[in-house]
Amino acid sequence: MQIKIFKTQDEIANFVSDMFIEEIKKESPVLGLATGGTPVPTYEKLIEKTKEQNISWKNVKTFNLDEYTGIGPAHSQSYRYFMNENLFNKIDINIYNTYVPNGFGNLEKNVNEYDEKIAQEGGIDLQILGIGSNGHIAFNEPGTSFDQKTHVIELTEQTREDNKRFFNSIDEVPTHSITMGLATIVKAKKIVLVATGENKADAICKMIEEQPTTDLPASILHDHANVVVVLDEASASKLSSKTIEELVEA
Ligand code: F6R
Repeated sequence: MQIKIFKTQDEIANFVSDMFIEEIKKESPVLGLATGGTPVPTYEKLIEKTKEQNISWKNVKTFNLDEYTGIGPAHSQSYRYFMNENLFNKIDINIYNTYVPNGFGNLEKNVNEYDEKIAQEGGIDLQILGIGSNGHIAFNEPGTSFDQKTHVIELTEQTREDNKRFFNSIDEVPTHSITMGLATIVKAKKIVLVATGENKADAICKMIEEQPTTDLPASILHDHANVVVVLDEASASKLSSKTIEELVEA
């Protein structure tokens, strides 16, 4: 696990967007994308660099981590809507090459098809992840088996509470979502996990310093061969000096 600590959001966005630009310039890149507050500055930077460097996304395919069930793609808090607004509408990607799990209809069928589609496209080359304050990645909540593929999950009260800032009230926050499973996520060839803010410091410290456990889903990343953890000073604030000395790269 490689760890980078930056002082500003802008530095984080710069570093992570460069990782993506490197992939996008390859022949047929498959990118794994996340929603939530954390990746927004990175997407803004990506849009900026796409314009500056005249980069085309025509050959890019994307798979998002998750989607709420029961709210349609036109809902302003659906993750499809989020991705269109924050990235896809601002670049020249073919919208049919952008996949977000479908939270409507036959969910059983949808989850199986999602894993099959990722496999058909040759797997994900670079996956961006945020982390929940409870250590979830995508919507794999504590207790989720490391062997799970894409599935439907009931959101914990803490996650609904964390996400209510995007809704008018907690009652509007969906109770379930479709999420890429942990087994699906770790198949990505390269992973960049980004965390900012003090409320992520505990989860980050446990993920890096403790043994993998399903109590902290992000700890599955321990055994992945190619993970970069990108932090600000607040989210890194609980790391021991031993970790900082041994793992943090300048
Ligand atoms: C979103 C996702 C979630 C978020 C996590 C952190 O697609 O998969 O795991 O990454 O809940 O959310 P923010 O970035 O809003 O703190």
